[in-house]
Amino acid sequence: MMSEPNVDLEDPGTPLKELNLPPILKPDKKTKSDVYYTVTAQKGQMSFKDGTTTNTLGYNGNYLGPVIKMTRGQKVHIKEVNDLDSETTFHWHGAIIPGKADGGPHDPLKPHSSRNISFTVEQPAATLWFHPHPSGKTGEQVYEGLAGLIYINDKQSKKIALPKKYGVDDFPLVVQDRTFDNDDQFNYQADYNADGTQGQNILVNGTLNPYINVTTRFVRLRILDGSNARNFTFKLSNGQKMYQVAGDGSFLDKPVAMSKLKLSAAQRAEIVIDTNDLKDGETLKLTAGGQNVLTMKMGERTENYSKLPKNLKHMKAAKTPTGDVAKQKLVLSGMSKMVRINGKQFNPDRIDIHSKVGQQQVWTIENKNEMMMNMIHPFHLHGVQFRVLSINGKKPPMNLRGNLDTIRLNPGDVYKITFKFEKRGLYRYHCHILEHEENGMMGQVLAE
Ligand code: C2O
Ligand code: CU
Ligand code: CU
Repeated sequence: MMSEPNVDLEDPGTPLKELNLPPILKPDKKTKSDVYYTVTAQKGQMSFKDGTTTNTLGYNGNYLGPVIKMTRGQKVHIKEVNDLDSETTFHWHGAIIPGKADGGPHDPLKPHSSRNISFTVEQPAATLWFHPHPSGKTGEQVYEGLAGLIYINDKQSKKIALPKKYGVDDFPLVVQDRTFDNDDQFNYQADYNADGTQGQNILVNGTLNPYINVTTRFVRLRILDGSNARNFTFKLSNGQKMYQVAGDGSFLDKPVAMSKLKLSAAQRAEIVIDTNDLKDGETLKLTAGGQNVLTMKMGERTENYSKLPKNLKHMKAAKTPTGDVAKQKLVLSGMSKMVRINGKQFNPDRIDIHSKVGQQQVWTIENKNEMMMNMIHPFHLHGVQFRVLSINGKKPPMNLRGNLDTIRLNPGDVYKITFKFEKRGLYRYHCHILEHEENGMMGQVLAE
């Protein structure tokens, strides 16, 4: 039986290092209603291990990008600058925005050129992200360092009783796997795997073997699986439960106690950890695949909250819509260069689905069980946030009942999702194993 490619994760053998915190991007200009940002894709160099330099890519810096803050209702203007030597795009993953601002592969930006986009933020508080999406180069550019976070705030997120002091009790964790070659470089071509390029070491915000000092009882971690392909299962080293409070695109109905958190490429989860039972000086580790993701050193802690809120957001399981509903079925199949959706490989000249803006959609996504070619495929759709109606005919687990833009399909899984296109444009849907996307496990939908 063919199995998922698996590069085993290894201990980097480097000393603990304080977690890098991405800077919060400063606006070029801000008014009551509008905010203006510049985001530049550029080449850089990083010292991941002491005494070494690795050639990298980054947004407004050497590796990864800043956190871009947006507020619901705000009009956002972004100047996208490509300072790379190859084409790129700026894709706002999870954002409900017009197709022409979405930065899909059909809209490349030439080297050393720029473009302005604007859109109004019309979605609830969430942790989204952005990454390049050029045809044939997405996997490589992400692997070399292009990815950043977007924090959408709204009235609720500003007052909710959850940790929200950036870098104090609220930490972003962009979790990626990378291999350093003998010269301490990333070598995408050498590490390339048609079923998903994986690396041996975990990097978090570009930090090998990171730690944070915990100074409050509750700690919020906003986790992005920012890898090209790796599926992570996160756990706490002492076996205690974590509370998931948000998924890709919204808070959950209530905090969900979990002993394991599974994320596939592009998925996000916000978790809160209660450190009340840990003593000063103890450490707690967030682990995945037998390796440390983050070491949390308990200091003297102030009580930022006495308990977690009982209710977060009204997010009951979605109900199957009736009436004027458009239905689609997408079947994911194959491996390697043979990946397909509905038996077809991606063709930029073909519109696979025509949809009406505002019409309720119910899409069935199936990961075909083929015995010899079974893999997890993370399915992602641009331009919307959807709700899961069912997984294999059953209601989704509590932590998948919020807004989502990416779902992890095990072999044989059938998901039913529902949403509406709110904006016009051409949007892509694809497997978020970036090498599968580039091998043709992708389609396009025109919403008008
Ligand atoms: Cu993260 Cu086509 O997207
Ligand atoms: Cu996307
Ligand atoms: Cu796939």
